[in-house]
Amino acid sequence: MATQRKSIHGEWSSNWAFILATTGAAVGLGNIWKFPYIAGENGGGAFVLVYLVCVLILGIPIMMAEVIVGRRGRQNPANTMRSVALESNASQHWQWAGGLIILAGFLILTYYSVIAGWAMDYVFQAAFGHFNHQSSSQISQLFNDLVSSPYRLIFWHSMIMIGTVTVVALGVEKGLERSIRFMFPTMLILLLIVIGYSIKTGFFGQGLSFLFKPDLHAVTGKSVLVALGHAFFTLSIATGSIMMYGAYVPQTTSIPKAIIAIAIGDTLIALLAGLAIFPIVFAHGLEPGAGPGLIFKTLPLAFGNMQYGQFVGTLFFIMLVFAAFTSAISLIEPTVAWLIENFRLSRLRASMLAGFAIWLIGFGTIFSFNVWSDYTVHGKNFFDMLDYFTANIMLPLGGMLVAVFAAWKLAKQTVVEELRTNNGLLYTSWHFVIGYITPIAVLVVFFNSI
Ligand code: PHE
Repeated sequence: MATQRKSIHGEWSSNWAFILATTGAAVGLGNIWKFPYIAGENGGGAFVLVYLVCVLILGIPIMMAEVIVGRRGRQNPANTMRSVALESNASQHWQWAGGLIILAGFLILTYYSVIAGWAMDYVFQAAFGHFNHQSSSQISQLFNDLVSSPYRLIFWHSMIMIGTVTVVALGVEKGLERSIRFMFPTMLILLLIVIGYSIKTGFFGQGLSFLFKPDLHAVTGKSVLVALGHAFFTLSIATGSIMMYGAYVPQTTSIPKAIIAIAIGDTLIALLAGLAIFPIVFAHGLEPGAGPGLIFKTLPLAFGNMQYGQFVGTLFFIMLVFAAFTSAISLIEPTVAWLIENFRLSRLRASMLAGFAIWLIGFGTIFSFNVWSDYTVHGKNFFDMLDYFTANIMLPLGGMLVAVFAAWKLAKQTVVEELRTNNGLLYTSWHFVIGYITPIAVLVVFFNSI
C-alpha cells in the first residue's frame, strides 16, 4: 500500500483540477512567444522536428517521473526529494537536485514576468486601436518604444508580480481552476481566427513549409540543445512546477493519462501559434529570426488589418497575459512552499518575500533592452544569458537528475504503486527511456553543443 503522506498546502479537488492547473502551468509564453521566435532563429522545420521528438521521448516520461516523485513526497521539491530518497535508502543529497529545480523556476520567473508585462501593455494598445491600419515599420516602432522605456517595463513587471503574489498568497485554486477551463478553448479559437487571417495573406504555404519542412543542414549542436531546452521549458519540466503540482495530486489520479493529455494540448497550442505567425512574417517581408520581439511585431499586423481586429486583438492579449499568469503562479509556488516548510513563514510572508526578490532581479531583464543593452558577453545581454543558462543548462541538467533518480533510486514497487498500473509494458518502457535514453540524450546534446 502506498504511504498516505499529506501535503500541508492542500490537494487538488479532483483529477480535473490537476489537469487544468498543470495545463495552465505548461501553456504560456513558451508556446506563443518563445516557440515561434526560437524556431525562427534556428531555421524552422528541422528545429521543430527535434523539439517534437524531445517532447515525446524525453518530456513526457520525465513529466511522469516528476509527478510520481512529487506525489510520493508531497512537499516542496527539495524536501520531497530528500524524503523520497530516504524512504528508498538513497542519499539525502538528492535534495540538492530538488533545490536546483526550485532555483531554475525562481530565476525563470524573473524574466518571464517582464515578458508577461509586454503582453499586458499590448492589451491596452490593442484596445485603444493603436494597431489599426499600421504599416509593419510602425508596428515595429511600437514595440521598440515599449522596450526602450524602463519605466513602462517596470510598471508592467510590477503589476504582474503583484498579481502573482496576491493569488499565491491567497491560494485561490478554485478561481484558477475555473478560469483555466475557459482560457484554453478561448486561446484555441483566437489562434484559429489569426490562422484564418494568415491563410488570407497568401503566404500560408510558405509558413507551413518553414515550420514543417526539415532542412537537416540547418541543424547544429546548439540548435538541438535549444530545442531540448525548450521541450523542457514548455512542459515546465525541471523547474519545480510539475513536481510541486504533483505533490497536490489526489491519490486516485492516473498519472500517465493526465500527462499525455497535457503534453498534447501544450504542443498543439505551440504549433498553432507558429502557423498563425510565420505567414504574417513572410507576407510582410519580416525576419523569422527577429528575436524576442517576433510576435509583438507580427500579430498586431493581423489585428490591425482584420475585421473586428481591435476586439480580437484585445481578447488575444488578455488571454496571453492570463496564460502567462497561470504559468507564473506555478513558477513561484515551489519557492513559496520551500520557504513555508523550511522557515515556518506564513503563506503571505513567503509569497511576498519570494515575489520581492524576483521583482528585483527582474530589473536585470528590463535593463537588457535599454540602459544595459550595450553590456553583452559574446553578443548576449543579461536577459539572453539568463534565458540560455536556465532553459539550456539548468533544465536539461535538472531533468536528467530527476530521471536518474526516478529510474535508479526509486524502488520499482513505489513506481508501480504510484502509476497505479499492472501494465508491465508501460513500466518497462518508461523505465528504459528514463533510465537510459534520457541521461544519454542529455549528455550527448550537452557535449555536442560546447
Ligand atoms: N511552460 C511555461 C510556458 O511555456 C513556462 C514555464 C516554465 C512555467 C517552467 C512553469 C515552469 O510558458
